[in-house]
Amino acid sequence: MTDQAIINEVGLRDGLQNQPVTVDTATKAKLAQLLVDAGMRYLEPVSFVSPKAIPQMADAAALTPLLPQGNDLHYTALIPNLKGYQLARDAGYPTVGLVLSTTDSFNERNLRMSLEQAAQSCEAIIAAAKADGIATRTYISGAFACPYDGPVPVTLPQKLSERMFAAGSDEVAIADTIGAGNPQQMKDIMAPLIQEFGAEKFYVHLHDTRGLAAAMAWAAADLGVRRFDASLGGLGGCPFAPGATGNMATEDLVYLLESAGLKTGIDVQGLREAVALAAEATQQPLGGRILGWMESQEKQGKTPRIG
Ligand code: COA
Ligand code: ZN
Repeated sequence: MTDQAIINEVGLRDGLQNQPVTVDTATKAKLAQLLVDAGMRYLEPVSFVSPKAIPQMADAAALTPLLPQGNDLHYTALIPNLKGYQLARDAGYPTVGLVLSTTDSFNERNLRMSLEQAAQSCEAIIAAAKADGIATRTYISGAFACPYDGPVPVTLPQKLSERMFAAGSDEVAIADTIGAGNPQQMKDIMAPLIQEFGAEKFYVHLHDTRGLAAAMAWAAADLGVRRFDASLGGLGGCPFAPGATGNMATEDLVYLLESAGLKTGIDVQGLREAVALAAEATQQPLGGRILGWMESQEKQGKTPRIG
């Protein structure tokens, strides 16, 4: 089992999509640069969605050429449907993130499709992506609970994951979109899936609505998962999932993983600059728990150690 962990920064997409203050394209590009400077190598900077539904993502195509370039940088665009896939492909994204929620209600609100329609739409997009040489990661959204229908049985995300792998999805992300899961549920969902497909096929995507994201991330890491989404400063929320707060803060995830002996390649000092700019741009206070601790250490004249 590798001690290298991958953190995929989703702050520019999942983090910003729900923000009432429009962040301009140049500031988004600057945030991406600060993140890359801090060592981030995997980023989801945009989604290709209806600009009427999510005005904050209207500049997805304009932002893309302004992003830092490099062979070691891995960009994903999130897409809700075939149109989004075509836009992401045309913009040059090597990987797309597909969305499949666990219930009819959530798929209807988010994608205007039933669960079955959304699953078939994902299958069609995965087939198109295969033909185009584009990698696919399918997000099983609301894997732990649906914002409309409540708790979801563990067999549901498992069956949808199996179906998406059977369709050819390269990876599956188990997403607690509203932050309603717990570590035991993480184990119950993921242990059989990892047995069947291998831990390297999975991401986990966690929102920290009720404070259990770190415990759930560790439950997944303990099972061998090494790929995680996170959002700088804990920025975020989902416009179609009432009550959901931000993703697990990237800096807290780095601290969790590094302090437990895994390597992320990410410098929390560097992240601080990005968090400060995101806070300024969105006009709201941001920052994971670890930043407060670092500040208190520094006030005492000490140098906080993360790794
Ligand atoms: N990118 C850009 N525009 C899109 C689009 C996409 N992926 N999908 C649909 N549209 C546009 C259509 O062109 C149409 O525009 P028009 O009104 O100017 O003609 C409009 O959206 C509605 O089209 P329609 O075919 O009726 O859309 P739909 O009902 O099938 O789907 C959604 C619309 C759900 C795709 C759209 O509401 C959306 O993008 N929602 C955002 C979902 C999201 O981001 N959720 C959070 C992350 S998971
Ligand atoms: Zn999310």
